[in-house]
Amino acid sequence: MRKKILSTNNLTKTYFTKAGKIEVLKGINFFVNQGDTVAITGASGAGKSTFLHIIGTLEFPTSGEIKYHLHTDINPANLSRDALSEFRNKNIGFVFQFHYLLSEFNVIENVILPELISYEFKKDKKHIKELEEQAVSLLKKLGIHERALHKPSELSGGEQQRVAVARALFKNPPIVLADEPTGNLDSKTAQELFELFQKINEENGTTFIIVTHNEKLAQKCSRNLKMIDGILIDPANS
Ligand SMILES: Nc1ncnc2c1ncn2[C@@H]1O[C@H](COP(=O)(O)OP(=O)(O)OP(=O)(O)O)[C@@H](O)[C@H]1O
Ligand SMILES: [Mg+2]
Repeated sequence: MRKKILSTNNLTKTYFTKAGKIEVLKGINFFVNQGDTVAITGASGAGKSTFLHIIGTLEFPTSGEIKYHLHTDINPANLSRDALSEFRNKNIGFVFQFHYLLSEFNVIENVILPELISYEFKKDKKHIKELEEQAVSLLKKLGIHERALHKPSELSGGEQQRVAVARALFKNPPIVLADEPTGNLDSKTAQELFELFQKINEENGTTFIIVTHNEKLAQKCSRNLKMIDGILIDPANS
């Protein structure tokens, strides 16, 4: 039997704004097993990005709990700020809806940056060279190695998105959270990106949670969930 890697218990998120209270997530009980590929689809504004940010420990829930089941059970709410950054850096790869590449750095630097700022990083030139070579080999798989020395502003939207994917996969985290990773891609490149996710999933057992509006690609995932107005529904169980 496969092992649970992440679970949530009655997760809610409410924003209190000047214009009023917005209840975005309304009690989400969710789990994912190690090696699953989970697609989440749903209307704009349903709460998909909010959910990913919260399970990705970038935002705290208003109530409810998240638990990562790695070598031990970890509740991110119990970690100090530094421990939480370290935990995130080591265990979670993010592909954001808006990719947040750093404009002053070139493609390779953007990809290896999370490694450079990680706690285990050895600061010697040989090590950096190795990392750069690894980055180029990943960029090759994504078909953008020819842009390795360019700055993000010199790339198309789809190319920038693939750099963001390379950055998320670079440290080989056990779990990858991707928000509309194919949003800026043509259908062929989108399909290739999904195939790369599947390959990494099969080879490394990486767990993927992917928010997408692309139903056809969602069908390729092992589980298909729907976010409807702040509630996450598994049509397979209802
Ligand atoms: N920081 C915030 N403050 C107030 N409201 C917010 C905030 N972030 C998100 N919301 C609201 O929460 C709701 C859900 O937003 P979210 O970004 O999670 O939607 P989504 O399902 O990802 O939509 P899309 O498909 O358009 O990306 C929206 O109505 C949005 O306005
Ligand atoms: Mg979104």
